[in-house]
Amino acid sequence: MKIAIIGAGNLGLSIAKGLIVTNAFTTLYLTKRKTEDIQDYEEYAKVKVTSDNREAVQNSDILIFAVQPTQMERILEEIKDELHEKHVLISTITGFKIAAIEAIVGEQRFIVRSMPNTAIAVGKSMTCLCSNENGKKRIAIAEAIFNRLGTSIIIAENKMQAATVICASGVAFWMRLIRATTQGAVQLGFDAKDAQQLAMQTCLGASSLLIESGKHPEEEIDKVTTPRGCTIEGLNEMEHNGLSSSLIKGIQASFKKINTITTD
Ligand SMILES: NC(=O)c1ccc[n+]([C@@H]2O[C@H](COP(=O)([O-])OP(=O)(O)OC[C@H]3O[C@@H](n4cnc5c(N)ncnc54)[C@H](OP(=O)(O)O)[C@@H]3O)[C@@H](O)[C@H]2O)c1
Repeated sequence: MKIAIIGAGNLGLSIAKGLIVTNAFTTLYLTKRKTEDIQDYEEYAKVKVTSDNREAVQNSDILIFAVQPTQMERILEEIKDELHEKHVLISTITGFKIAAIEAIVGEQRFIVRSMPNTAIAVGKSMTCLCSNENGKKRIAIAEAIFNRLGTSIIIAENKMQAATVICASGVAFWMRLIRATTQGAVQLGFDAKDAQQLAMQTCLGASSLLIESGKHPEEEIDKVTTPRGCTIEGLNEMEHNGLSSSLIKGIQASFKKINTITTD
């Protein structure tokens, strides 16, 4: 695969690192205007750093756009004359609709939208993908790329806002739950470092149990809630104080807010 990442910032470089460690390309172009800070990447075989987006597009088949939303339109205008029938365009830009991309480059192009999260930096992103009609023929390429950087699923474009709340904002929600558990553990006598480790690893273990078994969370809860025991005592106290309800309300509030910022 000849890949170009247009906009090698936080997200672009996380994707680049994942592609480099898994040796997933024949050539990889990384672009940004000020290239000094990413020049080191040229030390990797087959990686080229440039500020020339058109050169990157001419020499690649898969184009991953990771610039800020305000920069996207101008960049598409800049490169559109370099596009040929093989190019697959993968946008990571939050809130930038497929129709807006098609309006500039044409609906005959293979266009995929992706919504990764910050866990992409450690190869654990939950990434949602959607495409235009033609893009359905090439969406497997985007799946292959993002499955190297975590897990991906294909969704309808009108669910991208909801996916942003659950997966991108979701990282912050889970962080807060881990922090709260850490605070609880400190109160039970653990030092802060050990407390955080206990919280993080228990979270990872709980999630892994579900991923590997395919079970419903309540089945795993049943296994650890002895009748009249300490787990059900704690769990019911949390629910009396609104644990599930507050999470659901928070998700709804985030979704309401994102719909005032962008529309899908
Ligand atoms: N971070 C995430 O986890 C995440 C998750 C999902 C979606 N996204 C989306 O990903 C996009 C990028 O986010 P980010 O956090 O990675 O932003 P960022 O760190 O600001 O990266 C954007 C990069 O684009 C470069 N750039 C600007 N103008 C350019 C141009 N004309 N040609 C080539 N490169 C150019 C900038 O470098 P120069 O200034 O040197 O050009 C910068 O390095 C956003 O649209 C965001 O909505 C991010």
